[in-house]
Amino acid sequence: MSKMIKIFDTTLRDGEQSPGCSMNLSEKIEVARQLENLGVDIIEAGFAIASPGDAAAIAAIANTIKDSTVCSLARTMEKDIDAAYNAIKDAADPRIHTFIATSPVHMQYKLRMSEDDVLQSVAHHVAYAKKYVSNIEFSAEDATRSNPDFLCRVLETAIQSGATTLNIPDTVGYMTPKEYASLITYIREHVSGVENVILSCHNHNDLGMAVATSLAAVEAGIGQIECTVNGIGERAGNASMEEIVMALKTRKDYFDADTRIDTKQIYRSSRMIETITGVGIAPTKPIVGANAFAHESGIHQHGVLNNEQTYEIMTPESVGIPQNAIVLGKHSGRHAFEARLKDLGYTLTTEKLDKAFEKFKILADKKKVIKDRDLEAIIGVVPVSGPVRYTLKNYVINSGNSINTTAVIKLTRGDEEFERVALSDGPVNASFAAINKIVGCDIELEDYSLRALTDGQDAQCEAVVKISFDGGKDVITGRGISTDIVEASIKAYINGINKYLND
Ligand code: KIV
Ligand code: ZN
Repeated sequence: MSKMIKIFDTTLRDGEQSPGCSMNLSEKIEVARQLENLGVDIIEAGFAIASPGDAAAIAAIANTIKDSTVCSLARTMEKDIDAAYNAIKDAADPRIHTFIATSPVHMQYKLRMSEDDVLQSVAHHVAYAKKYVSNIEFSAEDATRSNPDFLCRVLETAIQSGATTLNIPDTVGYMTPKEYASLITYIREHVSGVENVILSCHNHNDLGMAVATSLAAVEAGIGQIECTVNGIGERAGNASMEEIVMALKTRKDYFDADTRIDTKQIYRSSRMIETITGVGIAPTKPIVGANAFAHESGIHQHGVLNNEQTYEIMTPESVGIPQNAIVLGKHSGRHAFEARLKDLGYTLTTEKLDKAFEKFKILADKKKVIKDRDLEAIIGVVPVSGPVRYTLKNYVINSGNSINTTAVIKLTRGDEEFERVALSDGPVNASFAAINKIVGCDIELEDYSLRALTDGQDAQCEAVVKISFDGGKDVITGRGISTDIVEASIKAYINGINKYLND
């Protein structure tokens, strides 16, 4: 039988803490649910001590998730471990993940601790966490730039104090695959008791080698891989979950290893992270990029038409990419809509289904045929958080290349209607300025992007805005779709404002 590798997903911790990737409470719960559907073994739900919001999100996830272990990060400090335990204590299978740096540069300049101080801290805090839960992971931060013999002593101390998983992070993405595999082998040969715990890899992508290095670690005998959906994470990101899982699956003949991941949920998970964070992936991104299964050149197309295996080592269906078949139209009813969503892997609450169906009907009035990608776009834009405060009623734009643009925007909030006019240098700016007058907040547009989600002249386009409020540091992502780029932009802006007001 193949070796089972545990997938430890840190999208909600290492991923979420990276710039531009922050999520609100309901978005985190939605992501955690999807990670559970995907079949990840461990969900690292956050870093409880970091903020009350983080702690509340971890607790909510711990209360929701049943089929995956839920874990919180904690430095080797009692207050961190207390906060982590309080957040995960109601989980079906709780884990505390505690860490301290072991490299000379981190110990000297960040921790100002000697090797002995670090060893004592590990012994004390792993044992302290063990009093709360049996499932303890210990990480030696910057392990790959640490003295290997000192690292082995630290890991041995962690085992003796009760750690059940030992993580060897390549915190700065410095290792080559071969070097990392040798380090794992060294640890397996020099740490007593290592055979009784699970060894884990955690690779950052600074030199573009995170996935290759994680796979080399599998060959060297690790039992857990830490990764994120779409590879989001600090700096150049973490090892990408979808690439690792599909490499193990496609090259099972080579790795003789397996995961519990339902690969048909991969595309959906990737789209969800892209949608919620507003961080787009490159078309050439393996597995989930728009071109990952596209065949452009004549020779390739000819080959694939005769036999897919000529240029495809895996199928788009195996990762759940919807085929662009014509599926629904203006006369399709709610049952057909719901059934097609189910086929695509979406089971929505009644409330969400109602909202999605409403959006589907509006779109079906504009487009003759609705394809799977249109449905995906609709689902992605149904708000996951709280009541919708403002809704766009209508807008009128007067624009040209030799005049200032005027936007008249009418929004509703409950039964009230608000209308304002603003003048600016283009339709999007003028619309945002009019909305600012209605909402009455000082809103800064930090980032704005537009892209086509579907093909053809009546393509749906997606606008993503990143906005901050009243000089605050928090950046909120808003997303809107429409067949009209100005409308998509206005909706994205209003979506961001609604999220901010709900939080
Ligand atoms: O990269 C790293 O070292 C980490 C640890 C906290 C596990 O994220
Ligand atoms: Zn990390």
